[in-house]
Amino acid sequence: MRAAERRRQLDAELLAHRDLWHPQPFREARPAWCERWPALTAALLALDDADVAHLNDDTPAALRWLAAYLPDVDVLLPLIDIPLAARVPPPVPGERWAWEIPGRKRSQIEAFAGAVQPGGEGVIDWCGGKGHLGRLLGLAWQQPVHTLEIDAALCGEGEQLARRIGLNHRFLERDALAVADWPRQGQHAVALHACGNLHRRLLEHGAGAGVSRFDVAPCCYYRGVETHYQPLVASGSLQLTRDDTRLAVTETVTATPRLTRQRDQGIAWKLAFTAWRAQVSDSPYKTFKPVPAPWLRGSFADFLARMAAREGLPPPEARHLASIEATGWQRQREVLRLSIPRHAFRRALELWLVLDLAQYLETCGYAHRLATFCDRHLTPRNLLLSAWRS
Ligand SMILES: C[S@@+](CC[C@H](N)C(=O)[O-])C[C@H]1O[C@@H](n2cnc3c(N)ncnc32)[C@H](O)[C@@H]1O
Repeated sequence: MRAAERRRQLDAELLAHRDLWHPQPFREARPAWCERWPALTAALLALDDADVAHLNDDTPAALRWLAAYLPDVDVLLPLIDIPLAARVPPPVPGERWAWEIPGRKRSQIEAFAGAVQPGGEGVIDWCGGKGHLGRLLGLAWQQPVHTLEIDAALCGEGEQLARRIGLNHRFLERDALAVADWPRQGQHAVALHACGNLHRRLLEHGAGAGVSRFDVAPCCYYRGVETHYQPLVASGSLQLTRDDTRLAVTETVTATPRLTRQRDQGIAWKLAFTAWRAQVSDSPYKTFKPVPAPWLRGSFADFLARMAAREGLPPPEARHLASIEATGWQRQREVLRLSIPRHAFRRALELWLVLDLAQYLETCGYAHRLATFCDRHLTPRNLLLSAWRS
């Protein structure tokens, strides 16, 4: 399916169901859709913990489950089904290229490298950190590599790693948002998890500079978005707020039981705080600054006392602590359940954002292909947009 057509269909479906994915149950105890879809709300609230975990994690399963209550929602299934790229392991002898790369990161880099083909005179690895991806591609394709990276320490470490294997690999310690003379005409630009405005800048600037091929796995779409996402190519009437673009990347890979317990406790305590704040200050929901992680590892009493002091509220009374915490756990149970519909639209939102990039490259004279470069358990940000001069 062409990018424009897929995006048009996603646009229509996302608009039709906006009332389900836009409101945040963390902020609104009962989003308005609960009144419109009472049978769905009751069924969600009755789910057991195992089903909740499964439906929050598995988008196609959630869409199929929701289709019993929301007619037509499963038309999203073929629209979000993106094929796995054909993968050929890069021909690199030995292990020396991979010194010091943590296991999961290395697997992501190898999967990305196996899914892309050479397509230019030299490679530029955009926002490449220590240049692991560039180093692997330079070795596999026997091509000169440039890694552009803002962090001087990462550039220094990357240079050392390249020297140890005698690779023609230069580091450009630059700000991707300001650099004017990179990437260059004829280069092959690769970007693995360059955030929001960093990958958008690469495409906009690189297409103008005459990059011969792009292979981009985007992430953190909200980076560089102020209040609303500004599409590169106008399409339909969907408008995304910054929070909506953040929703596209809230999915995480299955955590260990310990991390899941910590996450659940964090949500419950924050919800306990917001419920208590609403009581003592009688004000509508407002956001609060991120909570320092150590505050969530001590006792509930300490957590609430710190939050109260930071937010300028009176100290909580000790005799009410147990019921305040119980309210938080009750809200946490509901939030996990009422978030299932919202989470079921995450991938559709992400695809809509990536198709905006694809359509932009089309308007600049590039052919393109969209694939996944690895299983989502290795990284949920597994979409690979490849584009070449047509
Ligand atoms: C998520 S990491 C990805 C690194 C690498 N591509 C990888 O997959 O290992 C994003 C990188 O972008 C770099 N970065 C952030 N802002 C930047 C900017 N304005 N210009 C250049 N690099 C930037 C960060 O320092 C970081 O190394």
